[in-house]
Amino acid sequence: MTFTRRLIAVLLMSAALSTPAVASNDLPRIETRAGGRHALIVDGAPFLMLGAQANNSSNHASVLPQVWQTIGELHANTLEMPVAWGQIEPSEGKFDFSFVDALLAQAREHKVRLVLLWFGTWKNGGPGYTPEWVKTDLKRFPRKRDEQGRPLAALSPFARTTLDVDRTAFVALIRHLRAEDAQNTVIMVQVENEAGAFGIPRDRTPAADKLFNGSVPKDLAAAVKRPGGSWREAFGPLADQAFMSWYTARYIEEVAAAGKAVKPLPMYANAALSDPLAKVVDPKWVSSGSPDWNMIETWKVAAPHLDFVAPDIYSSDWSRVRAYLQAYARPDNALMIPEMGNAADYARFFWAALGSGAIGYAPFSMDATGYVNYPLGAKALDAETVDAFASKFAFMAPMARGWAALASEHEGWGVAKGKAAADEARDFGEWRLTAQFDRWLIGDESWTFVKADPTPSTGKPTGGAAVLQTGPDTFLIVGSDIRIRFARNAPGKADRWQYLSVDEGRLDEQGNWISGRPWNGDQTDYGVNLPSKPAMLRVRLGRMDEFH
Ligand code: DGJ
Repeated sequence: MTFTRRLIAVLLMSAALSTPAVASNDLPRIETRAGGRHALIVDGAPFLMLGAQANNSSNHASVLPQVWQTIGELHANTLEMPVAWGQIEPSEGKFDFSFVDALLAQAREHKVRLVLLWFGTWKNGGPGYTPEWVKTDLKRFPRKRDEQGRPLAALSPFARTTLDVDRTAFVALIRHLRAEDAQNTVIMVQVENEAGAFGIPRDRTPAADKLFNGSVPKDLAAAVKRPGGSWREAFGPLADQAFMSWYTARYIEEVAAAGKAVKPLPMYANAALSDPLAKVVDPKWVSSGSPDWNMIETWKVAAPHLDFVAPDIYSSDWSRVRAYLQAYARPDNALMIPEMGNAADYARFFWAALGSGAIGYAPFSMDATGYVNYPLGAKALDAETVDAFASKFAFMAPMARGWAALASEHEGWGVAKGKAAADEARDFGEWRLTAQFDRWLIGDESWTFVKADPTPSTGKPTGGAAVLQTGPDTFLIVGSDIRIRFARNAPGKADRWQYLSVDEGRLDEQGNWISGRPWNGDQTDYGVNLPSKPAMLRVRLGRMDEFH
């Protein structure tokens, strides 16, 4: 080797050494397992995110004490916190990560993991969190235009100039994490926030119009099984929404891919949701471009570097929540709920989310800054409201990893009380489980006198459970304010069964069952009744075919 070559080799080696190595198997990641179920892996093992999202403007060191106060009260293991583009790049090319550093240090002190929310080009579709040098340069960073050609507040996804600077800033953030967060305090990153915008079915900038007048990309047409041709031909009344979803997702794909090339943390985009039960989606109530429930397929094709798209749930109507959970829990999409209303009536959906295979769940507006989120959430974050979530998080916290491991391996069911408190049933092979609500802890339908006396939960939006079938005849059930009844799901044999055992207990970190006390007699004769205080049961059932 010549001297020059040797010098170059030494320089290259020292450059490699000065970049902290990120061992890819230590990085948080999403693993997809048999049956299309998923696990979020953190520190090499499944992790259930018991999360909470702070208020938008709580991304300031001065209010972090009030954030940690609520995180502590909640027993949350993860804080979702915005990092604003304007905050980290106040002037172009000059970065300031002082807030990120304070957040990382304090999260480690509190033993809490972080999900960073990149408030970049879009925050609820708007440009509010972009730097002033972006806000004021309308030429370089064009806004969307309406049908009359008038510019709107929202930045257009069709401007490469905007994409380039957003991506540069995002990469700088991820590079900072690579350098300063070798221990992966940050376990996931949300790329933008509720991209897409209400009231603007389609961007009418010239660049957008040109693309809309072209054809639907072939890979998209194939994936959504629509004929190619124009957007209208392929998507009919959903053409504007599909078009905006595709190009918004392509934009975010580039940002995410560039970040992942630096440190491949799990990354996702969150959705402002339209009504999942609407027969015809009303364009007025659609955040056009968002990874909405009817655009998941489009986003999947457009943004392969995103690990998943995720629903922000602000409906406390169980039939809608159930539809959202079902839409986003897919073999190619891990269910994670980055935002949910924080009023107490949403807390029962925690169980439904767990049973639906969620890798994480976070109520929104969870800090003690005094800013409340009514009517999307609680009128006041008082002790009772916090406890509706905290009692469930506290119960699951010691076994969060065990639950995450089991939920990624076994078929599940998530259920919560609906408006009419009606029974809900689910078949697991030869077993039928029925959830019932507002029952006294003993007694059944034939006890007519019981009906006259409402239970403490009657009329209250509490009650839910997560169920896993951990063996052909074995069920793990966790929840509160709910009764689960069992029957054979076989003609003429509904009652040909018996309990072999019902045990109250818990899971260890690996998901092994640790029995506490057995339940029997009044505790099982009328189904198993989980009281208001959360409980976990393992139920083993036996067939009684020999009596026939
Ligand atoms: C959804 C957004 O993603 C949040 O940042 C917040 O604005 C809530 N809506 C409403 O409080």
